[in-house]
Amino acid sequence: MTTGGGPTSTAGRAASAAAGTLSRPVAAATREPGDGDQGDQHADDPWVLLAAWLPPDDDPDRPRMTLSTVTADGGADARTVLLSGWDEQGFRFNTSGGSRKVEQIAGHPDVALTVLWDGFSRQLVISGRAEVQSADELAAAYAQRTPFLQQLAHQNTVDYAQLPLAQRREQFAELAAAHRDGFPQPPDWTGYLVRPTRLTFWVTGVDTASRRTEFRRVDDRWERSLLPG
Ligand SMILES: Cc1cc2nc3c(=O)[nH]c(=O)nc-3n(C[C@H](O)[C@H](O)[C@H](O)COP(=O)(O)O)c2cc1C
Repeated sequence: MTTGGGPTSTAGRAASAAAGTLSRPVAAATREPGDGDQGDQHADDPWVLLAAWLPPDDDPDRPRMTLSTVTADGGADARTVLLSGWDEQGFRFNTSGGSRKVEQIAGHPDVALTVLWDGFSRQLVISGRAEVQSADELAAAYAQRTPFLQQLAHQNTVDYAQLPLAQRREQFAELAAAHRDGFPQPPDWTGYLVRPTRLTFWVTGVDTASRRTEFRRVDDRWERSLLPG
């Protein structure tokens, strides 16, 4: 997704904050806490901190996030999605228009996104309001997806899910062969921009207790507080 390239842009900040980058946000595989605490570096500006923590949008290894939503009857739901991109407007993910999350967000646009870092070293929690991305943003995000993810956007249907594995494999190969030049963007493919109202950066270290740096949106500025882990 777009980040721009100027010195005050996300990309510019990413470059200046690159020295602060630790491990990547990926699915956690180990049980011991890693060393994610870098003291008070970049601690006053959540966007500088984000640029130090998250990979650039053109990195094909996208961060996994738990997307939490509210159901029509006030219950909770959650699932993993990929972070398509982010900038100072917010955080973007994409999905199929017929999915449960789309119905839930239409009723309750307040969502949370949780990104966990490898080795339990860091956690980022984003609370905010989801809004549907513009047509231009959707087209750009779709074009950026790998052929495999583009095919999933076509093939992940209720009918396909009912088939036995052998038939799913057969149909998957057939569709891939029929679209060697690429898959057009499905009309119901969609995506959201989550505009943050609260950003919580959790860190731990091997020789200190975990701590959260929390930023809350108050009018047009971010108010910071330090909280126990
Ligand atoms: C690592 C991983 C990444 C995923 N990324 C996405 C994604 O970016 N978008 C998406 O719609 N589903 C993604 N899924 C599938 C969702 O977790 C979920 O099963 C699906 O979207 C249906 O969710 P819903 O019924 O709650 O709408 C991913 C699953 C995993 C395990």
